[in-house]
Amino acid sequence: MSTIPEKWKWFPEARFGLFIHWGPYAALERGEQVLFREHLDQREYAQRACAWNPRGFDARAWARVAREAGMRYAVMTTRHHDGYCLWDTAATDYSSAARAPGRDFIGEYLEAFRAEGLRVGLYYSLADWRIPAYWEGPEHDPSGFAAFRDTVHAQVRELLSNYGKIDVIWFDGAWPHSAAQWRAHELVEMMRALQPDILINNRLGKVDAADRVAGGPIAEGVGHSASLGDFGTPEHHITAEPGRLWESCQVSTWRLWGYARGERWRPADVLLDMLVEAASKGGNLLLNVGPDGDGVLPPEFVTRAAAIGDWLRVHGEAIYGSEPGEVCEFVTRGRSVARGNCLYLIIRFWDGRDSLTLAGLDTPVRAATLLTTGQALEFVQEGDDLTLLGLPAAPPTDLFPVIRLECAGPPRPADWAADRLWQGDPRRMTAWARAGS
Ligand code: GLC
Repeated sequence: MSTIPEKWKWFPEARFGLFIHWGPYAALERGEQVLFREHLDQREYAQRACAWNPRGFDARAWARVAREAGMRYAVMTTRHHDGYCLWDTAATDYSSAARAPGRDFIGEYLEAFRAEGLRVGLYYSLADWRIPAYWEGPEHDPSGFAAFRDTVHAQVRELLSNYGKIDVIWFDGAWPHSAAQWRAHELVEMMRALQPDILINNRLGKVDAADRVAGGPIAEGVGHSASLGDFGTPEHHITAEPGRLWESCQVSTWRLWGYARGERWRPADVLLDMLVEAASKGGNLLLNVGPDGDGVLPPEFVTRAAAIGDWLRVHGEAIYGSEPGEVCEFVTRGRSVARGNCLYLIIRFWDGRDSLTLAGLDTPVRAATLLTTGQALEFVQEGDDLTLLGLPAAPPTDLFPVIRLECAGPPRPADWAADRLWQGDPRRMTAWARAGS
């Protein structure tokens, strides 16, 4: 995508960010939506939230883990659907600044992450489950909803006025109200005025048909808008959004975004594979962690993050600033990512053979290197086949070994290899089939 404005180029370059879901729900240890899912008593939940005092929170410790994981930015919940605010807001005293902690957690987060050289983002839930007018909506409570919406706009203004440069704003919880009902266009205008470089995600409410950009390539999901927002946010899946920046958000556990006791953790290779898959398709991965009720990152996350960071220190050139690289069929062995004239073969399955054949690469290869060890590889390129030789029997890393192919130009597929079986015109294979009959 050569049309990315200069001010946003850092985003695809970064490829890997940390999503942080944290709030008083962490102390209940049943995920970020326990209030709704268990239909808890609002008053009792609020009492617990006001008494919540996570003394173990150390933003610098979080920031170090993120940097060492090779993450280049972070997005943290400023408030989730329960309405509790993690910053010093004038709009309500239901906040970490006004209640037990007496601290501005968001201010601490921003300072610590910037100090580690990361870009910073803020997640903000439009929804607030404590507010009857949110549920009633503008149809049933026009003045109540208008007042609630004004508070939302005022809080966004605060967040984007009081904390210096914010790189990303990440909305959520627009459902069931539309962009028009949230006055999202006004919100966008205000945000652009306050933070001209900010990236805004695409969850500002459904854009009504009349409002929609005609023929836009982006499918709308619930609460997602096609024409508002600078990047797409596929959630729990990794799907390219042609024509715009996108970032897949994923949990590092099996289920929830907020801390939950008894959670299962995806292994490091599965987490890394999500990053590699996103990069191979031209997008980012925003990998989530739910710190515990005391503000500590679960050790299961820290060890996985460190393993990915170790891998990125050796293989980062295949990820940062990479381009979509599914040039030819490589699914049998792994995924591929491109960058300039290089094609990176990221090998998920090391089979111990001393050679590997890649079929369908049209561009001449000048050099091949096993990036993991630095070993130069012999190779033979004949017609559409490239065979790499002299591979070690044992996998050179517990995670994914990477082979870098330096090509004579940007890697391109041979004609027949340009499409997968289920894409394109199947008749292009007729001659191939006929040759055997
Ligand atoms: C979903 C969940 C919400 C979470 C968000 C992250 O919308 O309902 O709890 O914050 O995903 O993308």
